[in-house]
Amino acid sequence: MQNHNRRNFLKSGSLLSASVLASSMMNMISVNVNASSQKNEEQENSKPKQRTLGTGKNSLKINHGIGLGCMGMSFNRSFIPDRNNSIAVMRKAYDMGMNFFDTAEAYGPFTNEVLVGEAIKPFRKNIILCSKFGFEIRDGKFIPGAFNSKPQHIREVVEASLKRLQTDYIDLLYQHRVDPAVPIEEVAGTVKDLIKEGKVLHFGLSEAGVENIRKAHAVQPLTALQTELSLMTRDPLGEIFSVCEELGISFVPYSPLSRALLTGFINERTKYNSNNDNRPGLPRYQEAAIKANWGIIEFLTDFGNQRGITPAQVSLAWLLSLKSWVVPIPGTTKLAHLQENLLSTTVELSADELKQINDFISNFKITGDRYAVPQTK
Ligand SMILES: NC(=O)c1ccc[n+]([C@@H]2O[C@H](COP(=O)([O-])OP(=O)(O)OC[C@H]3O[C@@H](n4cnc5c(N)ncnc54)[C@H](OP(=O)(O)O)[C@@H]3O)[C@@H](O)[C@H]2O)c1
Repeated sequence: MQNHNRRNFLKSGSLLSASVLASSMMNMISVNVNASSQKNEEQENSKPKQRTLGTGKNSLKINHGIGLGCMGMSFNRSFIPDRNNSIAVMRKAYDMGMNFFDTAEAYGPFTNEVLVGEAIKPFRKNIILCSKFGFEIRDGKFIPGAFNSKPQHIREVVEASLKRLQTDYIDLLYQHRVDPAVPIEEVAGTVKDLIKEGKVLHFGLSEAGVENIRKAHAVQPLTALQTELSLMTRDPLGEIFSVCEELGISFVPYSPLSRALLTGFINERTKYNSNNDNRPGLPRYQEAAIKANWGIIEFLTDFGNQRGITPAQVSLAWLLSLKSWVVPIPGTTKLAHLQENLLSTTVELSADELKQINDFISNFKITGDRYAVPQTK
């Protein structure tokens, strides 16, 4: 495995812990100072920086400009940790100021929403909770190609999600995949009604193409598009980014670490639990593709070593540098990775560094598609 120069990372990690601790202590202690400007300044400094998703009344403020993908705590990432571990990770994310949590009906299916609902219960009103509908779950099983966005089904899914999440509203509800059998205007109209009823606050799509984005947005303005985007999957940077910019829709990159490939923690000898992992079925995760793409890990490791950051942090900092309206949601089941990923929001890449990364990546031919079948419609 590569040398990730973790010493500098750990150093900055402990600084972060210290500063988070210090800032939460500052919040707890009521200090009677006459110099109110000094107090205001301190309060201002203890607030996490935010990114805005969406526009005007359809917008949301995301602390640190990064969210937590919760899927892997129950689904598709092999080992399922003890639920107390996952709850601790979500609560630590909140303690560190994060307020953007991503789940879906399909994750488990169902079990991830139950887990997230339990974890966020103590601070539910202070966070932005995202979920998704759109798959046909058959006999309690997630079937990758089976979609269902019929209006009545969307309503049933939302009612069930609300129960599992132990809440009476979902801040951001995405259609998980475009359903070719249901016009997107009908889907957007159904979500618009759910917004009027207060059960949903904002609307998003996942893996939608330009035409569907425009049609849906005309019925119910979209806050965000959640689609795969990473150093290894850059297709949305063309016309999808242009339409988002034009319409004021933000972009939430899912699998921002390319399902762990970009961390260097996966290699051609990695064994997956195929009962709970979609990677063995994806072309890019086959042995030959991992070997062929290994040059990216070497590049990210060497680049990161110059800055004292890890390949994951380089990858996330690159995503954050794309646009101020990009908010990645790396998934993790581990406190150390949570902290490492959060620290990427403090990494500024200079124009020269971005050029180095972009030059390298645009000259590197990626082997293996991200999915076996195209997702964007
Ligand atoms: N809309 C959609 O269709 C869609 C599809 C897929 C995912 N998503 C959402 O996007 C979120 C993230 O996607 P993802 O889980 O597919 O991929 P990801 O975030 O690119 O990668 C997650 C994997 O990377 C590992 N990892 C994370 N941080 C790490 C670090 N600093 N160092 C080493 N390894 C690290 C995790 O393992 P550890 O647990 O060991 O950290 C996990 O196996 C999901 O949780 C889900 O909410 C949405």
